[in-house]
Amino acid sequence: MGMIKLPENAKSFFRNNYEEIFNTGNLAESIWNEKLVEFGKVFCNAGCAVPTSSNGSGLVALMTIYRHYYGRDKVILQSNTMYGVKTMVLSAGCKLAGFAKCNIESLMPNLQQIQDAVNASKQAPENLILLLSHIGGIINPEIEKIATFCQAHNILLLEDCAHSFGATLNGKHSGTFGDSGVFSFYATKAIPAGEGGLVITNNHKIGDLVKRYVMYDRFAQEMNIGVNIRPSELQALCIYSVLLCTEEIIENKRQIATQYIHACEELQIPYIKQVTNNYSGNYYKFIVFSQNKPIGELLPKLKTTTSKVYDYALGDSSEIILHHACLPIWYNQEQEITSKVIKELYESV
Ligand SMILES: Cc1ncc(COP(=O)(O)O)c(C=O)c1O
Repeated sequence: MGMIKLPENAKSFFRNNYEEIFNTGNLAESIWNEKLVEFGKVFCNAGCAVPTSSNGSGLVALMTIYRHYYGRDKVILQSNTMYGVKTMVLSAGCKLAGFAKCNIESLMPNLQQIQDAVNASKQAPENLILLLSHIGGIINPEIEKIATFCQAHNILLLEDCAHSFGATLNGKHSGTFGDSGVFSFYATKAIPAGEGGLVITNNHKIGDLVKRYVMYDRFAQEMNIGVNIRPSELQALCIYSVLLCTEEIIENKRQIATQYIHACEELQIPYIKQVTNNYSGNYYKFIVFSQNKPIGELLPKLKTTTSKVYDYALGDSSEIILHHACLPIWYNQEQEITSKVIKELYESV
């Protein structure tokens, strides 16, 4: 049912610039990759940014670097995340050291659930990476406490920001709470550009290692690890064109969400807030949930939904699957769809 649409401004920016790439012959490692670096640093207020072919390639690069240069090879994941995050850990030559449970209020782990997973792992903290996924378009509401805990215990915090480009918590972007983070611009993501990722970090040593990793360190020739995971110039231009429309995309979805919020508030249906006093989400998903019964029992007439955030759990958070549903929300969504969903909500309660 879902339909990926891009703003006209993104399409025209791409059209106005792609021929130059062919005319100059600068097909790789040129201005559009550089512009992405600058955009990422300024937009996220981050010290370093490195464009990658995907979120996954960026996370594998970071874990490989953390294993090789920092001796970190045990990774804790959260239960409610994409299956591929698990394959990334092993692809980077690391080992899984357990899964943090997640809660239905955010679909993410809170500090206590992180502490329980760290204790259960029985690993020395100096070997550990906590790979935390921000889910659904908001930043983990307890990220500040989790980052403080990780710092105090010498655990490396790696943020999977696949869903959270444009989201902030207390004015800060995801990827800047821990040691590093990676966004995704995959076709179905909040800011969709087909394929692509962006590593960001305030740690200049890590930033420098990633920058050299993605070009095999072929100039300094000091590193023994590295692979080409860079976007081509055409892809970098495509990502850049869509990134320029970030605010427009989020604002458009916020207007759809406002209608859902009105219905949910009136009908007292719990939903995950994307905007509060201290955080602001990108409306990647609009999630309704039920604390103590399957969502189908709470909202029996709700049929117009998109797929669940995940219909599986990597660890032990399987109740999340049954207890949430995602209402359709995409850029320029047709009003008939929004109205149909709202009608089904009212008929349910
Ligand atoms: C939580 C999460 N992490 C990582 C990824 C991987 O992103 P990419 O396809 O850009 O590698 C996804 C994509 O589905 C995801 O949902």
